[in-house]
Amino acid sequence: MNSERRESIKTTAPKHPGTKDHSIQQQLARSGEIPTHIAIIMDGNGRWAKKRGLPRIAGHSEGVESVRDTVEACGQLGVKYLTLYAFSTENWKRPQEEVSMLMRLLMRALRDETDKLHRNNVRVHTIGETSSLPREVQDELCDAIERTKSNTGLNLLLALSYSGRWDITRAVRAMALDVRSGVLQPDAIDERRISEYLSTANVPDPDLLIRTSGEFRISNFLLWQLAYSEIVISDSFWPEFRRDELYRAITAFQQRERRFGMVSEQLKQGKTKRTVLSRLLKSVSGT
Ligand code: FPP
Repeated sequence: MNSERRESIKTTAPKHPGTKDHSIQQQLARSGEIPTHIAIIMDGNGRWAKKRGLPRIAGHSEGVESVRDTVEACGQLGVKYLTLYAFSTENWKRPQEEVSMLMRLLMRALRDETDKLHRNNVRVHTIGETSSLPREVQDELCDAIERTKSNTGLNLLLALSYSGRWDITRAVRAMALDVRSGVLQPDAIDERRISEYLSTANVPDPDLLIRTSGEFRISNFLLWQLAYSEIVISDSFWPEFRRDELYRAITAFQQRERRFGMVSEQLKQGKTKRTVLSRLLKSVSGT
């Protein structure tokens, strides 16, 4: 996210889901923490199409439906950030025809969906080397980013021409230049500072990484940022992935114990201290 897209980001109430869906969402909110940031490796479009004797692009096209449903459900659940791995640096090596069709699909999806994203209070961002995308795609992206820049709901980060190593390389280069010009002191380089040089500056690290199609790989996605993310692998191909699968992934996330290198007992103690403290604060403030 560039600097003008790094302003403080608030989240407000979501749109209106159907009654049954609404009650599932309420249940999820009651059963545990809703991840602040979900990152998704959308995999299996080609295999989904092949299984049906369809061209690969049909899988990508159906994948857009999954994007639509997932984005909507995340907004309704109050997820604050959703990062989608839509096109990796390595994807440029695919046959030229598939790359062109993917670009056209992306352009059409942005053109068709930006109004709805805006109505649903979604703010669009990109991470990746977007300058290498075709001009028309860049234009649609700029338009979507510009039109949604005041929205306060879900932040949708589209990873385009993105890879984790590209992100880290770019950050290291920028830091080296800043050290050379005296803006950055080598002693001041710590984990927080490195995060600030990445394309996800000011975005909290993903709590949950979902990968579809049953593969167990990170595939050069958010390499630095995924350090403590919980990983949920779905056996569904991406075009089959809809909100019910998202809810299952969040439920699995809620059942995990995130220890961040500590032991279980420390977490329980921390939780007790926080509960006592918040009770104390409530009694003092009278709320
Ligand atoms: C992986 O499936 C999917 C992609 C490389 C592209 C994902 C793009 C979309 C879902 C469409 C556009 C996105 C947005 C954000 C509107 P694969 O082709 O690698 O499948 P395979 O592993 O079965 O071959």
